[in-house]
Amino acid sequence: MKSVEPKLWATALIIGLLVMEGFMMRGSSLAADEAEQVIKITAKKFEYSPKEITVKKGVPIVLEFTSLDRLHGFNCPGLGIRMDIRPGKANRLRFVPEKSGTFPFHCDNFCGSGHEGMKGTIIVKE
Ligand code: CUA
Repeated sequence: MKSVEPKLWATALIIGLLVMEGFMMRGSSLAADEAEQVIKITAKKFEYSPKEITVKKGVPIVLEFTSLDRLHGFNCPGLGIRMDIRPGKANRLRFVPEKSGTFPFHCDNFCGSGHEGMKGTIIVKE
């Protein structure tokens, strides 16, 4: 009996380590699933492309803006996010959509006649 016990302990320890490793691997794959989603958006007189963006509530988003001509301004008041979009620069805006709905955005740096039409929509799904 006494010679069996250490083997049992060793077996239990090995099983325990395997289970822990399984949890850790599961944890890291969950973390990868929840990694931020990068969405590239180009801005030029007088449009954003794409002009409609669909994201998922709670998933971190990085909007990566590129201006093809001049200074524009991204502003989405409903989600409380804005950023100057400067040409020749990676303009990265990170946010986590905390509520679902349809949120209009617009250009808020005057960029010429047509500026008022430089608009788009972010749709946040449940
Ligand atoms: Cu682009 Cu105003």
